[in-house]
Amino acid sequence: MSNRLPVDRTVGPDGEPTWSPSPGGLVTALEPVMRSAGGAWVGWGGQPDLGLEPFEHDGIRIIPIDLSETDIERYYEGFSNDTLWPLYHDVIAPPSYHRVWWDSYVGVNRRFADAAIAAAAPDATVWVQDYQLQLVPRMLREARPDLTIGFFNHIPFPAYGIYSQLPWRTQIIEGLLGADVIGFQRVADAGNFTRAVRRLLPYSTKGAIVNVPDGDGARQVLAKAFPISIDTAGFEELAQRPEVQARAAQIRHDLGNPAKIMLGVDRLDYTKGIRHRLKAFGELLADGRADVGDVTLVQVASPSRERVETYRQLRDEVELTVGRINGDYGTISHQPISYLHHGFPREEMAALYLAADVMLVTALRDGMNLVAKEYVAARSGDLDGVLVLSEFAGAADELRTAVLINPHDIAGLKDAISGALDMPREERRRRMRAMRKRVRENDVEHWSQTFLDALRRVRRGDDLSA
Ligand code: G6P
Repeated sequence: MSNRLPVDRTVGPDGEPTWSPSPGGLVTALEPVMRSAGGAWVGWGGQPDLGLEPFEHDGIRIIPIDLSETDIERYYEGFSNDTLWPLYHDVIAPPSYHRVWWDSYVGVNRRFADAAIAAAAPDATVWVQDYQLQLVPRMLREARPDLTIGFFNHIPFPAYGIYSQLPWRTQIIEGLLGADVIGFQRVADAGNFTRAVRRLLPYSTKGAIVNVPDGDGARQVLAKAFPISIDTAGFEELAQRPEVQARAAQIRHDLGNPAKIMLGVDRLDYTKGIRHRLKAFGELLADGRADVGDVTLVQVASPSRERVETYRQLRDEVELTVGRINGDYGTISHQPISYLHHGFPREEMAALYLAADVMLVTALRDGMNLVAKEYVAARSGDLDGVLVLSEFAGAADELRTAVLINPHDIAGLKDAISGALDMPREERRRRMRAMRKRVRENDVEHWSQTFLDALRRVRRGDDLSA
């Protein structure tokens, strides 16, 4: 179960509705798991009032949940993306708290839960994904104690000092504790969660285990880190295709054969640190430490949550800054920044990764950041390319040989970018080799298998401290 279905409904040029893969790392991560498990996916089709019956798509059974225009405003844009999203990302933007948004969140979570309650076979496993559906685990358990219930939080879980702002902080914790296993991206997120449990509820915890009262006894809930990953082999294979490599050469040519290409790939979101990245690059140009024609930054910023005010403001600021930098430092033949406000298919992404000498991931806060892992997987063939990675992205726990940066430290970021542009080939290979090993070992299948194993162990009543 996830807020978004793995497919979005779009209307083709001929006016016929079709289904295409929907954006976001979550979908990339879960599609292979679903296909091999033969499960059903409960989620929203991305538009209001679709009124669709369940159907099959590409080997996956799809159970669509209808959202009205009001549900979208209050549950999706409101509570999910203007309350929980900024709150869980350490209040980078101020969260808004509105009681009607909360009521809508409860109502929509109930509708999702009811669909799963009706669809799940006896003793089935239900895996609930992400912050939009935190009340679902408890709703499922109350109606269907036979189910094995997992929950995975794809975004950070904040420290209690921040989390405690939430007027409905106890209800959310109780909702999550309906699960048998609650997965987080980082060890620190799981720790923040168990600390919140201890502050808000009279339940005992021991390490990653929370003892939740159940009838006369208690059941154990495991709250632990399971860092998500990508389909590494699939991405490696894609990047090795001759047509993708030819496309990478074409991109370099089309950009005027600069000595170095830098790349940023993000949803246009204020958590991604795009402004910090642009500021650092603009200053490097101003200082003469980077020259137009020698260095080009390709910034892919895919449109996201465009009706939420903070996202609108971000777009204006980013586009103003890009325009200024290009206006100040561009020439007739060269623009320092090639800015693309749209998403691209996987093939084009792989070609961009192959063309990029330096990949910039400067998130101010990010659950994992799968783009960092995709870049590493794409560069497994030539072992070239430098990843500049924010320590505030979950991926930094694993990709220790990236050039780790604090995006708030603009001077440090400038030095890191400049060092990345000049890094000798041997060092590039050494760092990439270590990251590649990690991304190969911990791919998305490893992630889902480890999570599902943990679910089975909890359900069997195994000794979890072992
Ligand atoms: C993040 C979230 C996902 C979400 C995706 C795209 O990766 O963790 O749950 O689906 O962003 O955001 P959207 O609001 O368009 O679904």
